[in-house]
Formats: sequence, C-alpha cells, structure tokens
Amino acid sequence: MIRSVVKGVGAYLPERIITNAEMATLVDTSDEWITARTGIAQRHVAADGELTSDLAIAASRAALANSNVHVDDIDLIILATATPDDTFPATATVVQAALGMERGFAFDMQAVCSGFVYAVSTADNFIKAGQAKTVLVIGAETFSRILDWEDRTTAVLFGDGAGALVLQAEESEGTNQDRGILTCHLHSDGRYREKLYVDGGPSRGSVGHLRMEGREVFRHAVVNIAEAIDEALEATGLEAKDIDWFVPHQANKRILDATAKRIGLRPESVVVTVGEHANTSAASVPLALDVALRDGRIKQGDMVLLEAMGGGFTWGSALIRW
Ligand code: ACO
Repeated sequence: MIRSVVKGVGAYLPERIITNAEMATLVDTSDEWITARTGIAQRHVAADGELTSDLAIAASRAALANSNVHVDDIDLIILATATPDDTFPATATVVQAALGMERGFAFDMQAVCSGFVYAVSTADNFIKAGQAKTVLVIGAETFSRILDWEDRTTAVLFGDGAGALVLQAEESEGTNQDRGILTCHLHSDGRYREKLYVDGGPSRGSVGHLRMEGREVFRHAVVNIAEAIDEALEATGLEAKDIDWFVPHQANKRILDATAKRIGLRPESVVVTVGEHANTSAASVPLALDVALRDGRIKQGDMVLLEAMGGGFTWGSALIRW
C-alpha cells in the first residue's frame, strides 16, 4: 500500500518575545498565575506588518531544506490557519507563489487548533488516493491579531508561529512497521461553538476577538483528546507503551499532563513546548515536532503520536512512524 512518509520538518517563530513579566504590564495578571495555571513562560508575537504568510513561507523553506525535496516536486500545499492574511485568496496560494511553485494546487484548512492534524489527515488521503505524491503541510497563525488585549483570561494564553512538514508517497508493506502515517482520526461537534469562538468574521463585517470559556474547554479537551488517542491505538493494535513520542497540541501544560496520565503515556515521552511558544493554535504541533527533531529526541523509526483539540469543537489524532 501507499504510505505518506515524513521527509522533513521546519519552523519559524517571530523575533519579538513577550515574557509573562511584560504581559503583566499589559493586563492585570502575574507570572505566578500564568505559570501555575498554564505552564506558559513566554510567547512570540509577529511584528507590525508581518503576516501569517510570512511565517508560513519561512517555515516552509526550512522544511524543504530539511527534507531535500525541491519545490518543483510539491503537488499540493495545505495551510492550516484560523488567521489568514486576507479573506481570500487562500494564504496557501500566497505561500505557493513565494516558493516559486507554478504547478499543483494549494488551499487553506480551518479547524483552529486542530487544523494541523486535520491537514495531515487530508494530505494523507490525497496521497493514498494518488492525487498527490508530495505534499507540504503547514500550520501558521498570528493569533496576536485576534486577541482582546484587554481580556486577561485569553490574552496570556496564545502566541504566533508556524511549522511545516513535507510528506511523500512511498510503497510499503501495509504493516505497523511501515514508515509513514499509520492512522488518523478526526472529529467535530458544532454544538460547542459558544465555548471557544471569534466574535467576528467576513460575513459579520469585522475581524472580531477570541472568546473562550476556559474551564469548559479544559474539561472537554482531556476527554476528547483521550478518545481520539484511544481510536488511534485501537486502529493499529498498539498500546500506550509503544508510543515513543507524544507530540500534542500545546494549549496548556495541565491539559497535557492530564491527558498523558489518562492514556498511560510515559511522562518523559511527552514533548512540551507550551512554556516557550504558548498556544500557537494550528502551528503548535509542527513547532513542537521541529524542536524534538532538532534536539535529537525523535529519530527515524520512532512511533510518534500527534493530537489536537480546538474551537468548533474540533479534535483528532494522527499516528506516524517516523
Ligand atoms: N491572570 C490572573 N488572574 C486571572 C487570569 C490571568 N491571566 N485569568 C483569569 N484569572 C482569574 C479569574 O478572573 C478567576 O478569578 P476569580 O476566582 O476571582 O473569579 C480566577 O483567575 C480563576 O479563573 P478560572 O478561569 O477558573 O481559572 P482556571 O483554573 O480554569 O484557568 C485557564 C484558566 C488557564 C484558561 C484554563 O481554564 C485553561 O487552560 N483552559 C483551557 C483553555 C485552552 O487552553 N484553550 C485554548 C484553545 S483550545 C485548546 O487548544 C485545547
């Protein structure tokens, strides 16, 4: 069978860092509160005029360099974002042009914090269907632009950034020993819109700000994420002990700890970058992957479990042998 094999990863973070101490000068909060409740120590924020596409282009160039894949080989770009440059065209096509890609196709994917897992799953399906051989999957966000900087309950939680992954079709045996994506599981439940949403959009005539019932999101996150992970393990006949690296969406250290405990994952297998990056929505998983690859944790042949949960609600998992 055909598998979607990871060829390379890249990431980009804006230069400007806002520490918790600086955040406390902007809203009524403290380093102690943010650290204790979330594990976040700092976040990167895009410069004036620096757009989601700029972050995505930088991450894509890094991923292409890391994978030794030439831009002419890319058939498809999927860019997961809830903060596109413009209402249209898709930010993915801006990236396409900047990379000098004159063939193939590109589109955006909107599943908020779950966007990257949705995009990985979509890319995998295009590859398995034979419609694309090489896919560039990007998660890129400038959430700083949709935060209400007067709302301390949300402003402290998010950051900007981008990460990208190159996937390529390879013939395989069709077993769990294959390299590549082994299984993906996606969910959404639109009844929970009010728990996490932006109170604006093109059809409403404004950009809007992020609104969230943090406690409710937290409660659902652990249950939903655990469900999506169970599905991945069940589909492959694997157990928690077979997972080498758990690379979750980085929303809150307490959510990561609670999920890992519930599933029975070894604490040392959890890749945690929320302290340095905060919640970068669709960018958080590829940013965390990039860190764990560059510091030598994730190696070829390792079993890597991705998961995410976000507005909608949307949630999902992807299991990949690296
Ligand atoms: N600084 C200081 N105090 C604060 C802040 C802040 N930044 N924000 C809220 N508070 C206060 C509240 O006003 C409240 O005060 P009160 O008791 O006097 O009313 C108190 O702290 C407790 O507030 P809670 O909202 O109950 O705090 P909680 O322990 O639930 O933590 C948090 C809040 C961190 C948002 C948590 O609920 C959470 O992480 N939820 C998940 C949300 C999330 O990660 N969303 C991201 C998108 S979805 C996803 O990615 C999974």
